Amino acid sequence: MGVESGGIIDICSQIRDSFDSIASDVKYQAKGVFHSEMLLVCAITEALGVSHIVESGRARGQSTYLLARYFDASTGCRITSVEYEKYTRDAIIAMNRLRGHSNVDLQFGDSWNLLPSLCTEEECIVVIDGPKGRDAVQLAARVLRNPEVRVVFIHDLHAVAAGRKMTEQFFPDSNTFFTDDEQYVEAFRDLDERCWEEMKEYPETAEGWAPYLRHGEKIPSYAHTFAMIVNTAEGIDVVDECTEYAQKFKSESTLLQRAKGKILNFLESEMTKPYWALRYWLQQLLTQ
Ligand SMILES: C[S@@+](CC[C@H](N)C(=O)[O-])C[C@H]1O[C@@H](n2cnc3c(N)ncnc32)[C@H](O)[C@@H]1O
Repeated sequence: MGVESGGIIDICSQIRDSFDSIASDVKYQAKGVFHSEMLLVCAITEALGVSHIVESGRARGQSTYLLARYFDASTGCRITSVEYEKYTRDAIIAMNRLRGHSNVDLQFGDSWNLLPSLCTEEECIVVIDGPKGRDAVQLAARVLRNPEVRVVFIHDLHAVAAGRKMTEQFFPDSNTFFTDDEQYVEAFRDLDERCWEEMKEYPETAEGWAPYLRHGEKIPSYAHTFAMIVNTAEGIDVVDECTEYAQKFKSESTLLQRAKGKILNFLESEMTKPYWALRYWLQQLLTQ
């Protein structure tokens, strides 16, 4: 499957109306994936004819619920969703929302342990929305060794996210697409009007968020952003490279971390709006 914007937009346009008919009345929930982003997951799953979706990171189940509505039991598609946190308000909200969807299996546990075995039996699509950042990319790398995993989606890989550069570096360009692609955004951003509006009901997580704005700072991405990595027929094996790369950040000396922290605090407190671009690039340099 080619992943240039034109082809992806065509595939998504084919289901746009049917997706909108199930998504437009779905109320946004805290921490949730946006409609224009889930459109891509649904369109690719349908286009590839894959009938098992494995999700890591459910929280209140916005993504899970949209999948469950688009691929209801009559489609023959199964959805297995893994969430780490068991006795939380989020977990209860998700269980209540998804009650009655017989093709959805809500599991609790750590995806590092569960995902590889959930992906062995048949072709599947994997959606990772927790863990985050470089950990998410490492988890993606682990499952992509298995050619039964046709595509992996990783959420929150906007242009300034930890893990974006890592994804661009280790997965071939020809197999990778990001939903902050300009043409993709222009084609489908109108699906998100309700999400942006209802997101304001959760100021603790959504303060200072708007298109191309995150925590009040301009960023070069429209929103959270899904990375899509299409697997090859043999599987992609970049586990060692990803582990080594991620390890570099974990093994930094405390002294270096403290120094970086001081510089970042200075940037945060001393540099105000007109310098956002400079601050942004300096932050990038220090955190990637
Ligand atoms: C941003 S939320 C998911 C939102 C959800 N996809 C939606 O659209 O509403 C991230 C979730 O991932 C879970 N998580 C983080 N690490 C995990 C892991 N290793 N295994 C399973 N779940 C994990 C967190 O507990 C959290 O509930």
